[in-house]
Amino acid sequence: MGLIPFHVDLIPFQKKSMDADMKYKMNPEPPLPPHYMEVLIEEEELRIRVQDLAREVTGNLGERDPIIVCVLKGAFVFVADLVRKLDFPFSVDFLRASSYGNSVVTSGEVKLDLDLQQSISNRHVLVVEDIVDTGLTVQYLKASLEARGPASISICSLLHKPANNVKLAPVDYCGFEIPNEFVVGYGLDWQGYYRNLPFIAQVHQT
Ligand code: IMP
Ligand code: MG
Repeated sequence: MGLIPFHVDLIPFQKKSMDADMKYKMNPEPPLPPHYMEVLIEEEELRIRVQDLAREVTGNLGERDPIIVCVLKGAFVFVADLVRKLDFPFSVDFLRASSYGNSVVTSGEVKLDLDLQQSISNRHVLVVEDIVDTGLTVQYLKASLEARGPASISICSLLHKPANNVKLAPVDYCGFEIPNEFVVGYGLDWQGYYRNLPFIAQVHQT
């Protein structure tokens, strides 16, 4: 497998000042336990960072006709913004992965609910995820796609919780490191809700 040079450009998480802290409530609220939200990454920061990532991806894959793999469902908003900043030939495909077991304890097993339509044999593949938490999903996806003989596989994730196992799933392009807290927005959900928020927010249950 040919290796593509890349550099990892991590943006450390910085807690905002009290002024920038914002409590967010929906009216009417979704049927979830009582909670409020604290914005961690604002819309404008997301926009700027996605632009940076697009520049990095262009530098590495711009002349390689890559297949951009959107990992459903969480990455759909990020991918939609990212691909519109790319100005070179590529195609987009989709897959859906889910972990067995309940949401509290992961069994460590991942299954493919929906597979790619295209062959990735001899193609350069960029897997785009919303968040790398334990790293199990990305590790599984990488191993399963590698078995299909791509020219290369690189991983792009908008968010990364580095408190968890970084070695398990090295990320080639990472938008933001965040604390080990549950977040929603910009495609990420809580029981299916809040994917539409234009920012990333931490959920505080009250
Ligand atoms: P993994 O633990 O790296 O396998 O993470 C797998 C999946 O868990 C991610 O793709 C998300 O769908 C979900 N996930 C992990 N952390 C969060 C979070 O803070 N908010 C919403 N979904 C999350
Ligand atoms: Mg996901």
